[in-house]
Amino acid sequence: MSNIDELFSNNRAWSNGVRTVDPEYFKRLSTQQAPKYLWIGCSDSRVPANQIVDLPPGEVFVHRNIANVVVHTDLNCLSVIQYAVAVLKVEHIVVCGHYGCGGVMAALDDRFDRGLIDNWLRHIRDVYLEHQDEIDAFDTDQAKVNRLCEHNVMRQVNNVCKVPTVRSAWSEGQSLSVHGVIYGLEDGLLKNLNVSVSSGD
Ligand code: CO
Repeated sequence: MSNIDELFSNNRAWSNGVRTVDPEYFKRLSTQQAPKYLWIGCSDSRVPANQIVDLPPGEVFVHRNIANVVVHTDLNCLSVIQYAVAVLKVEHIVVCGHYGCGGVMAALDDRFDRGLIDNWLRHIRDVYLEHQDEIDAFDTDQAKVNRLCEHNVMRQVNNVCKVPTVRSAWSEGQSLSVHGVIYGLEDGLLKNLNVSVSSGD
């Protein structure tokens, strides 16, 4: 198929289905958004934010990139965080990684011939180097990747906590928690890494 007709027909069916159940749904949603959550996840097509936590449109503000990385010079991600925290006043920022992440896997490979992506993956490789002894001690490549996936989430939670917008919200007493979770592609389950932070202290 050389066109995107599938998307339009799916969309019409979805829109009709929603309006059949709730005729005012889109009208209501179009006037405001008040999500409680900012989701920072991986671009991986198997980890769709709203779907895996079963929340409808309007409930989750989403930023996704390769391997759910929060870089202090990434204006895209930082702008999303600023808008979510300062304007939408989300109460929770959830960094969600996933086991078997291709970006994390690629970062374990010490290569520099893949173009721009190697610069991005370098952030994850640095996390690996910091935990190299622990990660290398695992027997299988899969276990190594999965442990680095967890460390990567924890590092990104830490990075979110250092973002000026977040620190400023905490200093003003705004209710805001940052969480690290990881998703299992094989069972569809989210695991809490229990690294939540709710203040700047
Ligand atoms: Co991924």
